[in-house]
Amino acid sequence: MIIEGKSFVLKNNTQVILRSVKPSEAQLFLDHARIAHRESYRNLNRPPDYWDKLTVEEEEKILKNMEESKRRFMLGAFLNGKVIGGVANFGHDQSFQEFNGMIGISIQNAYHGLGLGEAMMRFAMEKSKESGCHRLELTVRTYNTGAIALYEKLGFKKVGTLRETAFIDGQFVDEYMYDYLF
Ligand SMILES: CC(C)(COP(=O)(O)OP(=O)(O)OC[C@H]1O[C@@H](n2cnc3c(N)ncnc32)[C@H](O)[C@@H]1OP(=O)(O)O)[C@@H](O)C(=O)NCCC(=O)NCCS
Repeated sequence: MIIEGKSFVLKNNTQVILRSVKPSEAQLFLDHARIAHRESYRNLNRPPDYWDKLTVEEEEKILKNMEESKRRFMLGAFLNGKVIGGVANFGHDQSFQEFNGMIGISIQNAYHGLGLGEAMMRFAMEKSKESGCHRLELTVRTYNTGAIALYEKLGFKKVGTLRETAFIDGQFVDEYMYDYLF
């Protein structure tokens, strides 16, 4: 689905626009994903070299597919012509679980702690609800205390622990699953 722009003022008074990333902006999104994953891969779902290898054409297809979906979307946080954060709803379009959304978020380190994560999550939740989602879920590494605090502030409930579900830097690590019912 396509989400039109909404502006948001960060705690440092800079203005960011939250909107769908267009397929024609695949390079901008890749630039963001490469920075965010180099900085925060331990908290995210793919190693940095996944993003280094992904081509602009492949990312363009992913973004097009999201645009054409009923409920999936990729929202970018745009600042001065760059993408500095992304939040996505990776739902299923055609299954008994089509009313479930799966949320993932990443913001570059330079923009943490300015209220952007909360604004992006609230906007993503609002748009997911409007699109007919009944439930959202996400997973978060048990050591990612900042993200956990954000999700709990927004009303997500802990479902349980996925034990040793990711293998990172030579170690199995646990994740919590959280969900939210509209
Ligand atoms: C997690 C992340 C999205 C938070 O975004 P952010 O813009 O830094 O967070 P915000 O400034 O909007 O903070 C909103 C709330 O989240 C919580 N929070 C965010 N960072 C926190 C931290 N480091 N420690 C404690 N609480 C934190 C607080 O409750 C805060 O509310 P408050 O300002 O009233 O205290 C961001 O740090 C990020 O992208 N990190 C790297 C990737 C990642 O971890 N993604 C999540 C994967 S599950």
